[in-house]
Amino acid sequence: MDRRGFLQAAAAAIPAAPAMMMLGEQSAQSQAVAAPPAAEAGEGTLVSRFGDSRDWWFKKRFGMFVHWGLYSIAGWHEQLQWRGGVPRAEYEKLFQQWNPQQYNPDAWLDLAESAGMEYICLTTKHHEGFCLWDTKLTPFNTMNTPYGKDVLRQLADACHRRNFPLCLYYSVADWHSPLYPNQGRSHELAPQPGDHPDLAKYLDFLKGQVRELCTNYGKISGFWWDMRVDKVVDPSINAMIRALQPSAVINNRGFDEGDFGTPERDYDRSYDQPRGFRQRIEACQSVGMESWGYRKQEDYYSLRYLTSSIARYRARDANYLLNAGPDGDGVIPAMPAEILHRVGQWYKLVREAFDDAMPASAITANRDVLITRKGNSLYVHLVQPPDGGEVKLRPFALAPDRAVLLNDGRPVEWRLDIAPMEWTDHKPYLRLHRLPVEGFSGTTMIVRLDFASLAGLGPALTAADPGKSILAQ
Ligand code: GLC
Repeated sequence: MDRRGFLQAAAAAIPAAPAMMMLGEQSAQSQAVAAPPAAEAGEGTLVSRFGDSRDWWFKKRFGMFVHWGLYSIAGWHEQLQWRGGVPRAEYEKLFQQWNPQQYNPDAWLDLAESAGMEYICLTTKHHEGFCLWDTKLTPFNTMNTPYGKDVLRQLADACHRRNFPLCLYYSVADWHSPLYPNQGRSHELAPQPGDHPDLAKYLDFLKGQVRELCTNYGKISGFWWDMRVDKVVDPSINAMIRALQPSAVINNRGFDEGDFGTPERDYDRSYDQPRGFRQRIEACQSVGMESWGYRKQEDYYSLRYLTSSIARYRARDANYLLNAGPDGDGVIPAMPAEILHRVGQWYKLVREAFDDAMPASAITANRDVLITRKGNSLYVHLVQPPDGGEVKLRPFALAPDRAVLLNDGRPVEWRLDIAPMEWTDHKPYLRLHRLPVEGFSGTTMIVRLDFASLAGLGPALTAADPGKSILAQ
């Protein structure tokens, strides 16, 4: 088609469009929503709720992960012993240096709250085998260090005082216990002289420790297994946790499938792709790019990256656990603390877009955004930094009554007309218009669109009560 032909075609198409709307025009002129693109697994659905006291986890969905252990004194990586090839006897000299005089669990919880976080998960025993509680089953615990106090007790008391759910991380792999069958597999030491590996006895030790953790520290809201190298299946272990702590949610890295999946960092990009999940998910990520434990020379993720990562999961009905590593004194250093604080400033402004919101990304073909829905509002999560001021929501074509940028409350312009690039359909689609991309390039923008009604959206996107929607798992 030559240029003249194009202009004629465009001119013919435009008057035919029922809604040539400009900023602020009312939805009385709205037209029917075009058929959504084929939905992916879990799009427009909520994952199944538990229907019991574990459902706290669906109300408090952003948590703080804390990696703390002997490795924090050295300040390189939580797997210093293995990745650094440090002989056990030398590594364990750190035990005599454990004396975190600045440890104040309330300072951690204050920071978590400033980040908008509502639960915490502590590494009670990482792969190094050092136990942060008064366990009777190995002397390799905080009571026998110069510090001489029960770290977990203090955190548990602080959590219970402010009704802050406490979850416990526990590594199955153990680089200290002479019973653990270290065979040089991934995340294992080579066989160590003097060890007497015995998996059955090690599992008895492990069960005894789990019983201590689930008995002596009041309410435990979650159990976070890690590094089950042996891949032993034994549902009796989670059954014991459930009997002792019925509100505890249990992850999928233990002795059976547990309650939820744990995509970690962004190693597995397949989790980025779907626009909804069919299983319960808690993504985990550290503010540090290399380590979960405190690292002196750490580089940190940008605020834009972290906010987008959080939005990517929270907009798909998933939880998010963000980690910071206290140093050997027990202090979360200034840099990660500042990052968490700034994440919180963002999270508090935008969280209405996540809380009790239904994934609704199926309404648009635009793969750079995620959408959630609550009542008659849609939230557009710009998880991919927009290329410019325009964000297309094709084939969605309903005019909002109001459009607001949650990041600062300013009105957002929009258009519902035929974009030159979309002219072939001869149909108008909704677009966000003149977004303030320059001013918000360091964060993740989320726009709320309020409608008079979203009744035309189709059943998958209109379920009203998240608590009652049992659609998957
Ligand atoms: C990885 C790390 C481990 C860390 C865990 C947290 O598995 O190797 O050290 O504790 O992530 O999910």
